[in-house]
Amino acid sequence: MKHITDVHNGREYLVERANKQNINDLRHVNNVVLPVIYNNDRVYNQMVDFGAFSYIVYDKKNDKREPIAGVGCRLEMMRKRAEKEEDETYPVPLKLNVMTLSVLSAYRGRGIGRALMGLIFDQVPQFENQEMNMAEVNHVYLNVQTSNEDAIRFYQNIGFTIVETIKNYYKRVDNQDCHVLTLSRCNIPSKV
Ligand SMILES: CC(C)(COP(=O)(O)OP(=O)(O)OC[C@H]1O[C@@H](n2cnc3c(N)ncnc32)[C@H](O)[C@@H]1OP(=O)(O)O)[C@@H](O)C(=O)NCCC(=O)NCCS
Repeated sequence: MKHITDVHNGREYLVERANKQNINDLRHVNNVVLPVIYNNDRVYNQMVDFGAFSYIVYDKKNDKREPIAGVGCRLEMMRKRAEKEEDETYPVPLKLNVMTLSVLSAYRGRGIGRALMGLIFDQVPQFENQEMNMAEVNHVYLNVQTSNEDAIRFYQNIGFTIVETIKNYYKRVDNQDCHVLTLSRCNIPSKV
């Protein structure tokens, strides 16, 4: 069983991999925290499919546990496999997309976001060892609203850099432009 320790008071929060039973807890936290609502079940199904990279954090209150944070990712191929590729068994390199990262406001600044990113970074080599025929993860990337300065600073703190800005990326929100931030495999920190 995984835990995240609160850097302020030493309290331990339970961490679970995303699965079919708990995925609505992640959806709940995202709906509370994020300006963009993912109504599309496909996004959450992908997080379940890539449960090694998607986690939910719980706080225990009076014998009840409440979801307080989470991260949701998916693996994507870097390119489509060419139709007449010579060696079809040769794995196409992957990129890890952090689709959502959310911490309820009362729990921010306690090291939970950083610890969640550390958890998924740890999974990169482990995943490759388990899935013998999987390609390497070439880089991690994510999209952030250009107006979300706190999150941009947060990601830059752990090594991400802005590589692109896309106009009108988000629909039905006030600030529609996004930055694309990436972290290449060789720069993934061993300790976040
Ligand atoms: C961005 C977010 C995930 C960070 O999570 P968190 O648990 O508060 O972050 P941590 O406590 O792990 O902080 C890690 C570092 O980032 C810094 N940081 C975090 N939030 C910050 C903020 N709002 N302003 C400035 N720095 C911040 C911390 O100071 C800390 O640095 P340090 O370890 O050098 O002191 C959280 O603020 C959040 O959920 N925001 C709203 C949703 C969002 O914007 N998600 C990202 C886009 S998908």
